[in-house]
Amino acid sequence: MSKQFDVLVIGGGPGGYIAAIRAAQLGFSVACCESNAYADAKGEPRLGGTCLNVGCIPSKALLHTSHVFGEAGHGFAAQGISVGTPTIDVATMLARKNAIVNQLTSGVKGLFKKNKVTLLNGHGAFVAQSESGWQIKVGEEVVKAKQVIVATGSKARHLPGVTVDGKLISDNVGALDFDVVPKKLAIIGAGVIGLELGSVWRRLGADVTLLEALPEFLSVADVDVAKEAAKVFAKQGLNIELGVNIGEVTASKKGVSIAYVDKAGKAQTLAADRLVVSVGRIPNTDGLNAEAVGLKLDERGRIDVDGHCRTSLPGVWAVGDVVSGPMLAHKAMDEAVMVAELMAGQAGHCNFDTIPWVIYTSPEIAWVGKTEQQLKADGVAYKVGKIPFAANGRALGMGEPTGFVKMLADAQSDRILGVHIIGASASELISEAVVAMEFSAASEDLARICHAHPTLSEVMHEAALACDKRSLHF
Ligand code: FAD
Ligand code: NAI
Repeated sequence: MSKQFDVLVIGGGPGGYIAAIRAAQLGFSVACCESNAYADAKGEPRLGGTCLNVGCIPSKALLHTSHVFGEAGHGFAAQGISVGTPTIDVATMLARKNAIVNQLTSGVKGLFKKNKVTLLNGHGAFVAQSESGWQIKVGEEVVKAKQVIVATGSKARHLPGVTVDGKLISDNVGALDFDVVPKKLAIIGAGVIGLELGSVWRRLGADVTLLEALPEFLSVADVDVAKEAAKVFAKQGLNIELGVNIGEVTASKKGVSIAYVDKAGKAQTLAADRLVVSVGRIPNTDGLNAEAVGLKLDERGRIDVDGHCRTSLPGVWAVGDVVSGPMLAHKAMDEAVMVAELMAGQAGHCNFDTIPWVIYTSPEIAWVGKTEQQLKADGVAYKVGKIPFAANGRALGMGEPTGFVKMLADAQSDRILGVHIIGASASELISEAVVAMEFSAASEDLARICHAHPTLSEVMHEAALACDKRSLHF
């Protein structure tokens, strides 16, 4: 007899494992199948998906090591510390990163045991609808589930004619595992991955060039943040060429050669030891048998869902990178909790207007809500409070004077509409803005809240004061 569950989750990334755990907490019998994309040495699937295996966590481990390396080389001397010229043992750096990945992925397995979630090893695909729900083929067996949550995530988009071999030409997977620091590293796409991984290898000594198709740098971010970031990254030695049109890419024993047409229309060739292709990600729907059961996809191949992650099929939900919205782990996890709670008859909810974005460069970039250019385009009257970290004692003490906090508030109601940070610990500071916006706070609310001194959070406080033109320290 085939196994029967209340809920089957397809995919064990942040969307899938959180959906499974929350559904189990709510009393459902739950299984999660994982197609083994990141199998361990024993062939067992690793949980955690892109995020834990080849995304958020390994990239942040390498960003930390390379940041410390950079500080030792360039930042210590100003504080009177001399350590000589630092060297990097890449194998040790990668081993540390891999140990963190192992710890966290096996930690999720432990959470499955604790919450009595059954882990099924195999690719999940729809077979048919049955009286009691759905039949899903997992590997060679067919299991039954009353409800199904699809959380199959995404994979790197590749360029036609550019073969990713994981050695000379890599996507995010290979770029987290270079065995040496490349002398010359080319990156196609100056988006989030290009900037984060470009920063890692630049800090370790690579000569890094990013080739970006769009004529504007970091157009998803607020215009002032993007301008500041372009200045800072150029100073750090990241060469960023905008408005390029990539032509033929050839790999040989000597390395990689990338032909492109530059912004001025001139044909150029870039020679590099290695190339990273980071031009966005595509949803994983292959092999799901979506079409056969009538699971509707949208125009970009993502599973079509409503605002509560319900698909076109009864009892089938979808969350995370495989549906619309930003491809972020915390967005996937929020959707996962919402779906499990809705299945249990609770008022599951996900506020898509207050999902924070973070780019873990140095300085970090973080934002929530609307950018200034969006407010202009929407015809919203707004006021701006903008305060530099250079006016903050703690930032100076930390040797981190770069950047600013920019708060945008409605001109009439004073409600906070967006907060944009470029500066040290922006990833942590943004949480205050998210909480404020969740509670529909006005800039005056933050201005009247006591912030500890001396902390970086005082820059947020001053930015709120500046919305009313009454900043005290700037
Ligand atoms: P995934 O994590 O992709 O997981 C999907 C899982 O489903 C995979 O394990 C896959 O093997 C499995 N699967 C697929 N098809 C099937 C099937 N048919 N049957 C069974 N299993 C299947 N986001 C952040 O918020 N912060 C960051 O700092 C950050 N850094 C990133 C850095 C990099 C280099 C990359 C590439 C991404 C980063 N992201 C970051 C994005 C983040 O990793 C994703 O948004 C997140 O992993 C999406 O979660 P998910 O569960 O939807 O999908
Ligand atoms: P991205 O969408 O951030 O950036 C891709 C860039 O490539 C864009 O600037 C785009 O204009 C450019 N591009 C596209 N086609 C091109 C071409 N043919 N030639 C040159 N440039 C081209 O995608 P990226 O960096 O691949 O990351 C994928 C996603 O992963 C991100 O959007 C984000 O959702 C997630 N991520 C999140 C992180 C975080 O939260 N800190 C870190 C890394 C990834």
